[in-house]
Amino acid sequence: MYDGLQSPGRNDECWCGSGKKYKKCHLDFDERLEELAEAGEEVPPRDLLKTPAEIEGIKRSAEVNIGVLDYVAERIAPGVTTEQIDQWVHDYTVEHGAIPAPLDYEGFPKSVCTSVNEVVCHGIPSPDEVLREGDIVNIDCSTIKDDFFSDSSRMFCIGEVSPEAADLVRVTKEAVQVGLGAIKPWGHLGDIGAAVNAYAREHGYTVVREFGGHGIGLEFHEDPFVSFVTEAGTGPILVPGLCFTIEPMINAGAQEIDMTDPNGWTVRTADRSLTAQWEVQLVITEDGYELLSW
Ligand code: MF3
Ligand code: CO
Repeated sequence: MYDGLQSPGRNDECWCGSGKKYKKCHLDFDERLEELAEAGEEVPPRDLLKTPAEIEGIKRSAEVNIGVLDYVAERIAPGVTTEQIDQWVHDYTVEHGAIPAPLDYEGFPKSVCTSVNEVVCHGIPSPDEVLREGDIVNIDCSTIKDDFFSDSSRMFCIGEVSPEAADLVRVTKEAVQVGLGAIKPWGHLGDIGAAVNAYAREHGYTVVREFGGHGIGLEFHEDPFVSFVTEAGTGPILVPGLCFTIEPMINAGAQEIDMTDPNGWTVRTADRSLTAQWEVQLVITEDGYELLSW
């Protein structure tokens, strides 16, 4: 097949775990994939497509991930340190039989990313960082449960924030909705980025190029890379079973970022303008998509 993987025999069990014969299950589906590949489309290899059992596992992981963010949402307030948030995330996750995915991931020292104001992503929680009225902060949680990965992030406005900050946070959330609205099963991944980008620009904002979403489920970061600077009708085909995140980082000012922080992680806007991000995790279905984490 196009992906170099072997297909089962017609009368053998399907690869999806349904227990049905291949010819009664994914044979037609696989033929469609092969035809698309022959027509020159970029078709995700079948080992990226999640089986129903894998999706159930990812949902159990996501249940904890969503719970962590809800827990933070109930407590975050002026005067809280990002270290305190890290503690909440760590303890809640472990108490629910799961592991915070960021902890020790490529050397990341904490259980969650906390990105305040001009920090684009990968902010490291610190006891010296106190959230103050007017701050906007992204809390990016990722969870491993029974070897399944989930990942989502939300913005929080600390007390009363400026109208500019509130607008950026709202438009970024709406951009994710617009991206979800661009999903058509058997369409193209680039449709999502094109829609997100157009929406951000209409509102006078810019979209970070260097970071994006990613496949996820059996690993923290799988293919495909999900850019939000793409043309419609380009990129991989949105095949049912493909599981990935939509997580645009949107800047109030220039698109450029600064990755020179000596800690090797914290990314800032180059012009120190405000930036926001929301992240959801989804799986493509025959009818559209199903949200898994938010
Ligand atoms: N949660 C981030 C993402 O959406 C990844 C953070 S990597 C870490 O992909 F090591 F900083 F946690
Ligand atoms: Co992510």
